Amino acid sequence: MKVAAIVGSIRKNSYNKQLAEFVKHRYAERIDLEILTLNDIPMYNQDTENEPPQAVIDFKAKVKSADAVLWLTPEYNGTVPGVLVNVIDWLSRVDKVMIGKPSFIMGASLGILGTVKAQMHLRDILFAGGLASPVLIGNEVYVGAAHTKFDAEGSLIDENTVKFIDSVIANFIAWMDKLQR
Ligand code: FNR
Repeated sequence: MKVAAIVGSIRKNSYNKQLAEFVKHRYAERIDLEILTLNDIPMYNQDTENEPPQAVIDFKAKVKSADAVLWLTPEYNGTVPGVLVNVIDWLSRVDKVMIGKPSFIMGASLGILGTVKAQMHLRDILFAGGLASPVLIGNEVYVGAAHTKFDAEGSLIDENTVKFIDSVIANFIAWMDKLQR
């Protein structure tokens, strides 16, 4: 199964990017995960949405060809970071590549609530008409106090978190099997 992972932080040592790397490597036998970064995505502009910059064309093509999208969101000021909202605006317009495409969400933050608010908002956004993406519910991965859960090399070392993500990935795969039947 092909999954596009959209990382909502362009920071070099982003915990959310490290979380994406963890998923990519640990579940490589079941999930072909391509990590998409937002570094090259320009600001959304309605004037250019019909002939968008090449980086947007390429990004949309990758999302379109995936069976599902994994969103990895940080939390900025109690909500979804601007870079993530920006790409969502591109994805929601013209060819609307997210329509009907399944999503699941994870997030890591320094706060103990681990992106609860950002994920609540992101789920709502994904249900909006321009995306209309069914989101895996009841499997919410909040990696709070992220600085205590990853080591200096960027590996996820918290055993409880690893075990929990194992169960979420199993549920995600079962959900996808059902949807694709
Ligand atoms: C933050 N951070 C943060 N953390 C949190 O738990 N709740 C919040 O509302 C915020 N707000 C916030 C705003 C801004 C502008 C910044 C820069 C940071 C801290 C945040 O969790 C931390 O920077 C993470 O490391 C961001 O994720 P990445 O970049 O590591 O993936």
